[in-house]
Amino acid sequence: MKALVTYFSRTGNTKKVAQAIYDAVTIEKTIAPVDDAPPTTGYDVIFCGFPVHAHSVPGKISSFIKNLPEGKKLALFSTHGSLRHNAFAKTAIEHASSLAKKATVIGTFSCRGQVEDAIIEALLKKPENKAWCEEARGAQGHPDDADLADARDFAVKMTHKVK
Ligand SMILES: Cc1cc2nc3c(=O)[nH]c(=O)nc-3n(C[C@H](O)[C@H](O)[C@H](O)COP(=O)(O)O)c2cc1C
Repeated sequence: MKALVTYFSRTGNTKKVAQAIYDAVTIEKTIAPVDDAPPTTGYDVIFCGFPVHAHSVPGKISSFIKNLPEGKKLALFSTHGSLRHNAFAKTAIEHASSLAKKATVIGTFSCRGQVEDAIIEALLKKPENKAWCEEARGAQGHPDDADLADARDFAVKMTHKVK
């Protein structure tokens, strides 16, 4: 039984969560950014993480999920600026799940990740983004220790599911 932890991360938030997941997985394991991910042959469970971008899934993660072959168990995780149970953040991870046509999604995990100032400044140019930007500013400092502890719990749960 082998696990692959793979992720896309622009500013390091999703990478931190990926590392916490990797640390907590108790079976044979590999961690790699999605651009350097090894072929999935030989891995039974794949943890795949992404930052929510424009309420959705970054293209390279979409392609990775879509191309997973039959028989793989997939545990998805995301980070996002919105509050943890924000409807858009939920929709993004549900969308990621729906992209897995052949792999079986065994669980999902999401937490907040601090948002680059430049993104908030750019979005603030449109008044309709004000509320979201205020919410996103609250993500400063995330993922924090509690988020990473939750990510480790998720990894343990998922590992038990596949063992
Ligand atoms: C281009 C861009 C678009 C984003 N869009 C959203 C969004 O729609 N909803 C959200 O909650 N966060 C959004 N964010 C914030 C990121 O999801 C969040 O900061 C995430 O933790 C970044 O992860 P990373 O450091 O692994 O790249 C966006 C960030 C960027 C750079």
